[in-house]
Amino acid sequence: MSNFYQAIQERRSIYVISKEPVISDEKIQEVVEFAVKHTPSSFNSQSGRAIVLLGEQHDKLWDITTDQLREVVPAENFGPTEEKMTMFKNGYGTVLFFEDQEVVKGLQEAFPLYADNFPVWSNQSSGMIQLVVWTALEQEGLGATLQHYNPLIDEKVAAEWNIPQSWKLIAQMPFGKPAAPAGEKEFSPIEERVKVYK
Ligand SMILES: Cc1cc2nc3c(=O)[nH]c(=O)nc-3n(C[C@H](O)[C@H](O)[C@H](O)COP(=O)(O)O)c2cc1C
Repeated sequence: MSNFYQAIQERRSIYVISKEPVISDEKIQEVVEFAVKHTPSSFNSQSGRAIVLLGEQHDKLWDITTDQLREVVPAENFGPTEEKMTMFKNGYGTVLFFEDQEVVKGLQEAFPLYADNFPVWSNQSSGMIQLVVWTALEQEGLGATLQHYNPLIDEKVAAEWNIPQSWKLIAQMPFGKPAAPAGEKEFSPIEERVKVYK
């Protein structure tokens, strides 16, 4: 199996992560920059944006998320939610994925025929970036998951890290040294999902 196929297969959701360093902060930055630079976008619009939170900044994100959830989750059910937040906070860092809505709007104005498609394509492109980052982190020996506490945390995140108004938060990816393996994964019969006609 070539490295590419192996990398795709080895990327998994790793929930139990620790703060123990695995690669340098510079390497983490390099991985995210690589993914954002080389992942395709519709019309090569390059609407993807990312912020990497490390150390105390990472901790702050999960404190903010915990506080925001506390306001909407009933107190008697908060235990499991808080445990989950602690699990993510136990990690080394988080990548925040955004899409710049100014770019999307610009495309809609420039190409009215495709106006409805641009927000969809922007999200698709963000998903591609997320997959590249997720797979690359895994290849570097880190474990990560994909989380969606937006839009609940949008305002606090924007205020804390001075996020431009046009950047829409799409996903959060906490990562760290894997401290427990991924769970079992079931696969639907592939012949029901892929058809070939020739
Ligand atoms: C678009 C998308 C959204 C997801 N959202 C979440 C999420 O909000 N929280 C979470 O824990 N996992 C989330 N996941 C992870 C999936 O549950 C996970 O990838 C899937 O069960 C397969 O497991 P694997 O990642 O170990 O291969 C998401 C995955 C995708 C592709």
